[in-house]
Amino acid sequence: MPFPEKFIDELVERNDIVDVVSGYVRLSKRSGANQFGLCPFHSEKTPSFAVNPEKQIYHCFGCGKGGSVINFIMEIENLGYRDAVAFLARRAGMTMPQEQDDAESRKRARMLALNKDAARFFYEQLSSPGGKRAAEYMARRRISPATAKNFGLGFAPDTWDSLEKAMRQKGYSDFELADAGLVRRGKSGGFYDTFRDRLMFPVIDVRGNVIGFSGRILGDGEPKYMNSPETLVFNKSRNLFALNLAKKSKSGYIILSEGNIDVVSLHQAGFDSAVASLGTSLTPEQARLLSRYTSQVIIAYDNDGAGMKASQRAIGILEKLDVKVKVLQLSGAKDPDEFIKAKGPEAFRKLLEGSETQVDYRLRGVTEKYDLSQDEQKVEFLKEASDLVARLPGPVERQVYAMRVANLAGVPNDVVSAEVERRRKRLVTKASREEERQQERPERQAQPNEKELRYEDPVSARAEEGLIRLLSLEPALGAREDLPEAAAFSSEALGHIYSVLLERLRRHESVSSANLGEALTGPEMSLLVRIQQAPVNLQQGERALEDYIKCIQEHKEQRQQDHAPLDLLALAQKQREKGKRYE
Ligand code: UTP
Ligand code: MN
Repeated sequence: MPFPEKFIDELVERNDIVDVVSGYVRLSKRSGANQFGLCPFHSEKTPSFAVNPEKQIYHCFGCGKGGSVINFIMEIENLGYRDAVAFLARRAGMTMPQEQDDAESRKRARMLALNKDAARFFYEQLSSPGGKRAAEYMARRRISPATAKNFGLGFAPDTWDSLEKAMRQKGYSDFELADAGLVRRGKSGGFYDTFRDRLMFPVIDVRGNVIGFSGRILGDGEPKYMNSPETLVFNKSRNLFALNLAKKSKSGYIILSEGNIDVVSLHQAGFDSAVASLGTSLTPEQARLLSRYTSQVIIAYDNDGAGMKASQRAIGILEKLDVKVKVLQLSGAKDPDEFIKAKGPEAFRKLLEGSETQVDYRLRGVTEKYDLSQDEQKVEFLKEASDLVARLPGPVERQVYAMRVANLAGVPNDVVSAEVERRRKRLVTKASREEERQQERPERQAQPNEKELRYEDPVSARAEEGLIRLLSLEPALGAREDLPEAAAFSSEALGHIYSVLLERLRRHESVSSANLGEALTGPEMSLLVRIQQAPVNLQQGERALEDYIKCIQEHKEQRQQDHAPLDLLALAQKQREKGKRYE
């Protein structure tokens, strides 16, 4: 029986991969997001074993091994999956889960069903007589009925037990309602609705499950919002409001704002890639989630001190994940909602197009710290600004910004350029050069690193990899009916990874590498990690998916023809054609 997802997630969280690996490998060199050391799985003189603390995975650019902390322990301690999990549980002082797994997954499914029914109930209330005030409030905020429908907005009536009664009628118990945070227990032991007289925003995850709610008071009052508590299915710091919608956007970026209302307003104005971070400042988990769906985030936080500070923090977090960040300067409005209402969508679009790049924004931050009319401060400024510029990946970009810095400080260009290049050299370690070289070798791209695995049909294998990559990023695709069977895959390993993935997706289970560890062999896991790391453009996802499917099918038919019992007539025909062509 598999371990519960939550247990594995917690296990991985409490066994930080850098800590664990450091017990076996000296990690010294840093390069970009990775820490490097000498690979414990093959012999080498220059470090090509990379550990990524953000993604909590390791990967050796030399021998190709990789995976989660669980795979590392399996490999290095020579343990099976269960024993490796037990090993790490002991290390983190966690008790192993017993047999409650099944009960737990039943409970989750039930809670999700309850949430969906509750969302439907709230939505229906909007058009009932009791929901008139909510409808009026929405009209006042200029939220259209179509937008309300798109987000599944609703109304929690101004009573103590409307939801409780309606859900009881559907067969849910008070205890189930309480576990989901939809009712609370009063002093006298009775239950009452948590959300009363509020505009309801369902929080929907990327798989389309209603995992919780956020309820806004109609008008002024405290607290302005009430949110579902943490439940078996809801964790605020790991989800983003409206990512279920934004992930389908074709815009190529995601807009990150603070408020639910901002997001609703942005979508309504045509900016369909807006999300909000559920009232917390962006957490590393949310950033990781974002980085799976986009490579560019545009921050549109509130136009105040807190928003500015939150932007700086978010930039730091996103940058570590190689996400490009731009920051919007909303002027003359306190937030995106107000901006759009006051100046219209076109003005917002202009703002988006002209939004400062993260480099401009940070450079401005550095500039504002120093008084450039003072020599000592100027020196400090040059140091800090050169360091910032040295970290930019593109040489042209570095040159442009070196010039900007020189202008700001009033010193000659080549002084800054030289300083930047000096710092750059220090940053670029041998290991990262090795990394670049490895990735450029074409034969590596055609064949998997794992010696055990060979692709008989590299073209089909490419498509198979692509399909696996898309499925692990876009779980909803698992529901499509035109997906090929694993048997159509040319590579047995990819076929196996694919069938494991698909089976879990269809059961709505997590497909994080830690959770997949049990079903996959070591080489398969390494392969999967590498597949998942390759960049993907989800905006083109559907198209790519269709191309992959077609390619896999065609190659399968091709192979079948090649192996079909020899039909002498057809063979003769083929020979004739060949003859013709080569005469
Ligand atoms: P805001 O106060 O900016 O709310 O809080 P808003 O959604 O933009 O609403 P309007 O435009 O003022 O009506 C930003 C986010 O912080 C969380 C909510 O997720 C909200 O959308 N929040 C705010 C809470 O969780 N609780 C609160 O009491 C207030
Ligand atoms: Mn706001």
